[in-house]
Amino acid sequence: MERKLEHYLNERKTAARWAADATWMEQEKYLEDKEYMACVQDIITHPVFLSMEQYIQHGSTTCRAHCIQVSYLSYQICRKYGGNSREAARAGLLHDMFLYDWHTWGRETGERFHGFTHPRTAYNNASKYFQLSSEEGDIILHHMWPLTPVPPKTRAGFAVVYADKLCSLTETALQVRSWFAWNVLLRRRLG
Ligand SMILES: [Fe+2]
Ligand SMILES: [Fe+2]
Repeated sequence: MERKLEHYLNERKTAARWAADATWMEQEKYLEDKEYMACVQDIITHPVFLSMEQYIQHGSTTCRAHCIQVSYLSYQICRKYGGNSREAARAGLLHDMFLYDWHTWGRETGERFHGFTHPRTAYNNASKYFQLSSEEGDIILHHMWPLTPVPPKTRAGFAVVYADKLCSLTETALQVRSWFAWNVLLRRRLG
């Protein structure tokens, strides 16, 4: 039991370290994974998916980068622990395809519930451009669980829920860390 917990904590640390590693995205290492790319090639090169580079998700991470990280981490989780890795990889890329800047969206439109409504918006956009399987649709629609009440139905869905939370937390933590670093630097300069 203790061993299992230790193993789980180590795996979590590795995943968190990986999610915080910005160089992985900058060097586009996922492109070298041929099996992963075979699952997602049509989405990852699609102009609508590429357009997500213009929107910031958290900190300095764009929606496109966030979705690639969630997709690749979910894919790896499924390959290791079971679940449909292809569906996880594809739904991971599409799970936040809401296509607007959520930081200003509420102010501009009066729509204040982005956290609750964006899975449906992402699903509608994704199904406009791609042929979604029912599992992919379910993952996109329920990836915000437990904020939204209905959980995903499959292991791949839970992999995306987990990867999304981990990546979002890491992106936010990095943002807070760099904010502190800037403040310390500024105080040193001024003081
Ligand atoms: Fe989301
Ligand atoms: Fe997300």
